[in-house]
Amino acid sequence: MIKTHEGGPVSRIGLGCWQLGDDCWGDVSEDTAQSILREAYEAGVTFFDTADVYGGGLSESRIGRFLRESGADVTVATKIGRFGEPGWPLNFTRDAIRKHTEASIQRLGVGALDLVQLHCIPTEVLVQGEVFETLRELQTEGLIKAWGVSVESVEEGLLCLTQPGLASLQVIFNALRQKPAHVLLPRAGQMGVAIIVRLPLASGILAGKYTAETTFPANDHRNWNQDGGAFHVGETFNGIPFVEAVAFADELKTSLPEGWSLGDAALRWILDHEAVTTIIPGASKPGQATRNVAALKLPSLPDSVKEGWAKLYSEQVEKTIRGNL
Ligand SMILES: NC(=O)c1ccc[n+]([C@@H]2O[C@H](COP(=O)([O-])OP(=O)(O)OC[C@H]3O[C@@H](n4cnc5c(N)ncnc54)[C@H](OP(=O)(O)O)[C@@H]3O)[C@@H](O)[C@H]2O)c1
Repeated sequence: MIKTHEGGPVSRIGLGCWQLGDDCWGDVSEDTAQSILREAYEAGVTFFDTADVYGGGLSESRIGRFLRESGADVTVATKIGRFGEPGWPLNFTRDAIRKHTEASIQRLGVGALDLVQLHCIPTEVLVQGEVFETLRELQTEGLIKAWGVSVESVEEGLLCLTQPGLASLQVIFNALRQKPAHVLLPRAGQMGVAIIVRLPLASGILAGKYTAETTFPANDHRNWNQDGGAFHVGETFNGIPFVEAVAFADELKTSLPEGWSLGDAALRWILDHEAVTTIIPGASKPGQATRNVAALKLPSLPDSVKEGWAKLYSEQVEKTIRGNL
């Protein structure tokens, strides 16, 4: 399980901090990054998700600065595996994990990492299992308080659930990626393993603001990773080709309850799954994090809407998703 420093539950809406690395989501300046962190915290967010690779350490350093200057009590989850020497996937060796854990501790300016997650780890390394021994060792030594894995597929998630001591699984889960709801989430819930939901807005598609004509900046992965050229295809628009993803979002909009935005409904759809511990929508602009936290106050999405979204998913969406499911 993941907890606040006082031992309570973390906020069910957290903040994804990939955007704060300033290298994959267009320009996000230092001032903007600090505003986003402050705004999220003031809105009640007590869980930030980052990774050492986001901006080559910049996202972690910016969070470190925020924590230092604000004194905010936030649980910070980071990820290791994709950044620094000896490189991916050798970063999952015992020595490399230790070295990268120590580097993240320095950048965040903390005594120990609250939660470290294995990032984009090959399935065969999970199967081999030595990596988990290393994490238990670092936990016993006090360098990390808890550990988890960010997985690409349900199969990888189920594999991780066999490991004693696993605190969390990070998964892609939203109205355009419903598969984890069937087996993985209930099993994790029964076992007390936290579920952290990434891409809750399918890289922004489910905010409902793009059209088929929308383009993205040169330094934005939604420009250069649409077909998985740089990293896993599923991490950009959920693995759905952009124009189709926009069309699915438009279809979801047709069944919204009166007064609801698609973004509100998309977040509420996830929150309505009780096994979900926290959702980490990313924010590239001030205002977005506060807007997302507001979904906590909404009532559950009506069953009729959920049924319609389940039908659209099984009949049309699922077969268009590229990458592992
Ligand atoms: N392998 C991994 O472990 C992995 C991979 C991916 C992500 N993550 C983590 O998960 C987090 C979330 O995923 P994500 O950032 O990729 O996707 P996401 O949260 O689905 O989408 C984030 C984007 O949605 C838009 N958005 C957010 N709130 C909005 C609002 N209130 N109104 C309008 N638009 C809004 C913004 O788009 P614009 O920028 O266009 O405004 C924002 O950049 C990341 O930040 C990262 O921490 C982990």
